[in-house]
Amino acid sequence: MTMKKRKVLLTGGSRGIGEAIKNELAGAGYEVVAPERAELDLADDKSLARFLEKNQGASFDILINVAGINNISPLEAIKDNDIDEMMAVNLVGPLKLARMASAGMKQKKWGRIVNISSIFGVVSKEKRTVYSATKFGINGITKALAVELGPYNILVNSVCPGYTETELTRKNVGEEDRKIILPNIPLRRFAQPDEIAKVVRFLVSEDNTYLTGQIIIADGGFTSC
Ligand SMILES: NC(=O)c1ccc[n+]([C@@H]2O[C@H](COP(=O)([O-])OP(=O)(O)OC[C@H]3O[C@@H](n4cnc5c(N)ncnc54)[C@H](OP(=O)(O)O)[C@@H]3O)[C@@H](O)[C@H]2O)c1
Repeated sequence: MTMKKRKVLLTGGSRGIGEAIKNELAGAGYEVVAPERAELDLADDKSLARFLEKNQGASFDILINVAGINNISPLEAIKDNDIDEMMAVNLVGPLKLARMASAGMKQKKWGRIVNISSIFGVVSKEKRTVYSATKFGINGITKALAVELGPYNILVNSVCPGYTETELTRKNVGEEDRKIILPNIPLRRFAQPDEIAKVVRFLVSEDNTYLTGQIIIADGGFTSC
């Protein structure tokens, strides 16, 4: 239980990892604001601008950037549209939301920002050029904001999930790929979304008082091999 009812802004709450985080935090007594796509479409500049304008001055204690897309493609087949969309959703949107939400946190001298990155923000794989660009980028944002916002007691961290059982993984990882990947995960299984949610819950909690600027990899040991 939190001491104070903290207000959370969370993207990507409709399913997968975001939904698990939303449920974990709501169950722990947080007030979670999770805009649906109709209210905030990160791929649409106008929608994002409207959302930022409407919420300027809203007093969020916590921002969790979860929404993300991964359209895999070999280099020669990458479409310009995919580059623009992935940059907007995975990188630019989270940065602008952090700029908006941090204003209230600064005033209160308390805040937590968690960016959901990926193992492909630390290592990479073929066909993940754009995705990795965005996920390495968000980890850079995490580091820079941790430095800039630290004096205001705003703690900023990335969580990098490994393979997690969501629609995104079902789209990009076929049965054959799964057979190849599993022996390379020391825990011999993909993560469940709630296992990622529990890491985030600690990071945004009152218990986290000194952990900031970190790129936390929750991958069952995959990147340790
Ligand atoms: N699953 C994995 O193995 C894995 C591993 C590493 C990192 N991640 C990262 O974890 C995050 C969540 O992934 P997931 O597996 O839970 O994905 P998912 O099941 O595909 O869910 C994606 C979420 O992002 C939202 N979203 C997508 N495009 C959006 C847009 N233009 N505007 C606003 N919201 C948008 C979706 O909303 P709608 O319902 O409106 O589409 C949905 O809530 C992503 O950042 C992903 O890169 C996932």
